[in-house]
Amino acid sequence: MNLILHIWRQKNAQDPGRMVRYEVPGVNEHMSFLEMLDVLNESLIEKNLDPIAFDHDCREGICGMCGMMINGKAHGGFERTTVCQLHMRHFKDGDEIYLEPWRAAAFPVIKDLAVNRAAFDRIIAAGGFISVPTGSAQDANCIPIPKQDADLAMDVAACIGCGACVAACPNSAAALFVGAKISHLAHVPQGQPERQRRALAMVEQMNREGFANCGNIGECEAACPKQIQLEVIAQTNADYIKAAFRKRPETASGGVG
Ligand code: SF4
Ligand code: FES
Repeated sequence: MNLILHIWRQKNAQDPGRMVRYEVPGVNEHMSFLEMLDVLNESLIEKNLDPIAFDHDCREGICGMCGMMINGKAHGGFERTTVCQLHMRHFKDGDEIYLEPWRAAAFPVIKDLAVNRAAFDRIIAAGGFISVPTGSAQDANCIPIPKQDADLAMDVAACIGCGACVAACPNSAAALFVGAKISHLAHVPQGQPERQRRALAMVEQMNREGFANCGNIGECEAACPKQIQLEVIAQTNADYIKAAFRKRPETASGGVG
């Protein structure tokens, strides 16, 4: 099939950027979306033109590196699908496809479709870890975690930090990401000693990074390729309020929304 791509080209964070039209002939329906971009880049390189910058690594939906708006939808808007898992059979001959980077002030554009998501790293560094010594790996039957809690922890641990939730949110809130990370450790005993301190530190770092609060719109949940649920935001708020109350009872309020 032959496609027309309109791709956001931006040299760096200071460049105003613009959409550029590309014709991509001979696209095979079995190609992944990123392979199709690889083919376009090969043809640009052959013509001594600057290839399109986009993030990727695992190309199997587990690392969280890939991500872009495809026709205005994060990761293309297909259920449980990251860009790297998207295949060209979802498109048809003659389609025009619009590609843009994640749009959020806290994710400045590095180049073209690649954005800087170091803000997420700093939120994790603020509290997304446990510091209790857990020793070497236990035999599974020795770990005193009820199956239901283990399942819930695993469900939220599926967050790959892709940032689609931020890109889809009209407020550019990071509440779903932060909620997934806080909720993950809140469901296991190893996460309990630092639970409230963690919620306080991660939410405060989220605010420092310039992410807005949750407005309860739910676009994040709809865009998330790992189906992280809005409940994690409620869990985060509960932990945050308890921690804030302990620290400053007279002013405790807020959370992620
Ligand atoms: S919550 Fe979902 S959309 Fe947000 S970073 Fe995690 S996996 Fe990506
Ligand atoms: S490249 Fe790893 S999730 Fe897409």
